[in-house]
Amino acid sequence: MVARGKSKARVCTYYSLLSVWVVCAIGWYRYYYGSAASAKIPHSIYDTNDPEFELSKVLNLAVDGNEFTNNSMYLRLKEAYNSSEEVGLRYSSIYDDIFQNHEFESVIGNLDFRQRCNLFFRNVFIKNHNWVFNPNQNFEVGLGKEFERYQSNNAAKLQAAFDKANEGRSVEDYKGKFSEFKKQAFQELKQAEVEQRVVNELAVFRLYNKCYVTDNDPLQNRKTDAFISEQKLLINDDAELKSKVVPFEQTKKEQLVTNGNTLPNLDHRIYPWLSFDLPVYERWTGQIYRDIPDFSQILKDKSQPPKSGSSKSAQSTAFFKRFKSQCNGKGIVLSFANQHTDTAVNLIRLLRALKNTLPIQIVYFDNLNDDSKRKIVTAARENFSYLPQSFDKISQYLPKDYLDPTSKGLPKQEVWFVNTATSINPNFKDKFGGYANKLLATLFNSFNEFMLVDADTALLHSPESFFQLQGYKETGTFFFKDRSILQRRNENDSRMFKRISQSAVDKIMFDIDPMTNRTFNGNFFQDLYHQMESGVVLFNRQQHFNSILMVVHINFLSIIRKKSWGDKELYWLGFAFNGDENYHFNSHGAAAIGEVTNPSDRKRPDGTHHRSQELCSPHPGHISEEDNHTLLWINSGFRYCHQADIINYDVESKLGRKLKFLDSTAAAFKEYYHSPLRIKHAVVPPRGERLQNMENKNDEPSLGWAVEREYCKEYMWCAYSSIGGITDIDTGAENTMEGLLITYTEKEQAFFDYYGDIWIGVE
Ligand SMILES: *[C@@H]1O[C@H](CO)[C@@H](O)[C@H](O)[C@H]1NC(C)=O
Ligand SMILES: *[C@@H]1O[C@H](CO)[C@@H](O)[C@H](O)[C@H]1NC(C)=O
Ligand SMILES: *[C@@H]1O[C@H](CO)[C@@H](O)[C@H](O)[C@H]1NC(C)=O
Ligand SMILES: *[C@@H]1O[C@H](CO)[C@@H](O)[C@H](O)[C@H]1NC(C)=O
Ligand SMILES: *[C@@H]1O[C@H](CO)[C@@H](O)[C@H](O)[C@H]1NC(C)=O
Ligand SMILES: *[C@@H]1O[C@H](CO)[C@@H](O)[C@H](O)[C@H]1NC(C)=O
Repeated sequence: MVARGKSKARVCTYYSLLSVWVVCAIGWYRYYYGSAASAKIPHSIYDTNDPEFELSKVLNLAVDGNEFTNNSMYLRLKEAYNSSEEVGLRYSSIYDDIFQNHEFESVIGNLDFRQRCNLFFRNVFIKNHNWVFNPNQNFEVGLGKEFERYQSNNAAKLQAAFDKANEGRSVEDYKGKFSEFKKQAFQELKQAEVEQRVVNELAVFRLYNKCYVTDNDPLQNRKTDAFISEQKLLINDDAELKSKVVPFEQTKKEQLVTNGNTLPNLDHRIYPWLSFDLPVYERWTGQIYRDIPDFSQILKDKSQPPKSGSSKSAQSTAFFKRFKSQCNGKGIVLSFANQHTDTAVNLIRLLRALKNTLPIQIVYFDNLNDDSKRKIVTAARENFSYLPQSFDKISQYLPKDYLDPTSKGLPKQEVWFVNTATSINPNFKDKFGGYANKLLATLFNSFNEFMLVDADTALLHSPESFFQLQGYKETGTFFFKDRSILQRRNENDSRMFKRISQSAVDKIMFDIDPMTNRTFNGNFFQDLYHQMESGVVLFNRQQHFNSILMVVHINFLSIIRKKSWGDKELYWLGFAFNGDENYHFNSHGAAAIGEVTNPSDRKRPDGTHHRSQELCSPHPGHISEEDNHTLLWINSGFRYCHQADIINYDVESKLGRKLKFLDSTAAAFKEYYHSPLRIKHAVVPPRGERLQNMENKNDEPSLGWAVEREYCKEYMWCAYSSIGGITDIDTGAENTMEGLLITYTEKEQAFFDYYGDIWIGVE
């Protein structure tokens, strides 16, 4: 019985196991052979008879009335992010491709940040398998052959439009104006095309870096995670929006792009101008580093911040991800070519007098020869114990360890040479002449925190103190303003920049912030020519890695580059185009530095003195916003006239308008021009609030700045401590505006004199 019962149970177990197996097997068969069966009939996007790929899907044809910018969720989010109507009117055409094939709600309601990135770049691929950034592309809107074709293809349409535009006017008014009309129509069309192209380029570049270069940055990830979850909350709180969220499905074409959820590394297409080789880092000793030098180790300096990156990103295949993880330390970055070596030598000597302890990297592009290097290293390392007489006046104020205890002289400098030539693809070497070297220096120096300094800049405080400025500590940048000259630019520049800036959909999809008043309140967007003076620029690389990449990138886009004088405006512009407005400008515009004109030398016609003070000088300088007094640095070297060697003194000494305290002899001018600038005052002129000339009736200046073209090769500018005066003699109404007039103390002047003597090499 027992045995029988046992075997019955066994049979039972046997059958149930068998049936489980059968069910499994059928399921497995269906799963396996089912999919294999459908895979057995391969489909083709090129097969016009294949129902799997409707032609409309293959061609990405738009579905009428399905524009995502009219979608209720889009509009709701746009409102939530306070997107302004006037900025970012254009958006990348990739978004059109995406939302022609996906419900807007399915993308926003389902995908996280990484999935949105992959979706975007899949569609970049689909649009053009061979897409690659072309640094040589032309953004000119010319006429030529294309215009002829346009005219003949659109003859009837153009005629009709012209007739319509002139409806009700007499023939006399528009006779002979048709060709002008056609030209304008064509140029407007082309301009729109060109702008769309730039928008497309900017979007790809911006998103690639955010998606695949800094995607391991903890701060960025915290921000994007919070962004996505807040967006989800917003949608889930709205029943109507929530109800529209349908599952996300890849299109057939998207599925074809790559396997799984990974995309191939697009570095070579985004950065075709790179060779993907690091620059050569050469220490002053001649020692060569083929990898990024680790300053805390090499200098045995505990104050140098260590390498930041994890070993994982150090092995990344993405070039800049690897580079970012390796940068370390804090230092000074110079960039100059052979012809400016003597000026740079003076700066290095000045850095010694300022007791600089930060390492210095001189970044160049094959244009610095061994002779220049020898001069630099000599200036940085030779014993420097013969100090100018002016040292005696300040030595009482200096700390005991000012002079190096062993050499009894000024401290030696840790100089490095960084040759970027190997890092650039040979086909694009011509893109990096002149000021573009400075952009390469910004990118390829190996510091995490750095201060970019022009060779003809003269610092008046220790470099370290610049890193202590509040604005730098808060934002990880410090920029300086140029002279606030009211030189107007074409107002279409700023309008165009607004149109091509990032748009609401960039914000909704990728949390790219639009440009705001922080940028629009700057001089550039007030349609003035000059905003920034780039003789000193501070960066924290980790905080602004992608924005620095954007600074370099916009230099390839002539439509943007041409609106900047050299590299001057590209820094803040690159940041703004990257959706990064966390940059800081010193609040004061540049000052005129030197000595105010004796009031008796510029009396009013009636013999009275002016209310305003005048300071004419070839040197702009920069006053710290923290105390409205400290002179941080000046430009154009330390000689009174940086052009002193190429002046015609016979002519200049006879002009008689300025520098009246000098004998009007060539010899007197020559000596004065070659001497160090003597700094007693600084004047930051006021800038008319409404950018107006302050016309007045008592001979006061109406503008803050006036150029004196005939002095010092046009480098001399006069600044006025106040502008405006009486506007109505009867009522006494006035429009006076006060600027800043600073008088330096004897002690401060003594320091300036000492630094000037060091820079020039006065005994
Ligand atoms: C936007 O949507 C509204 C209502 O849904 C519709 O009336 C309008 O024609 C649409 N506009 C465009 C440009 O598609
Ligand atoms: C949008 O503006 C409102 C009102 O000015 C403000 O309360 C809100 O914080 C802003 N939202 C964002 C995302 O800036
Ligand atoms: C520099 O000064 C040090 C210390 O006084 C001395 O040993 C060395 O010889 C000097 N070098 C030169 C080139 O004069
Ligand atoms: C700005 O653009 C508009 C429209 O294209 C044009 O009519 C105008 O002349 C331009 N302004 C200047 C100053 O070039
Ligand atoms: C931006 O500035 C303009 C003009 O200065 C002003 O009209 C506007 O209200 C400002 N917008 C914001 C959001 O502050
Ligand atoms: C500096 O001047 C500005 C006005 O230009 C003023 O708002 C600020 O309080 C001043 N700062 C100091 C420290 O005096």
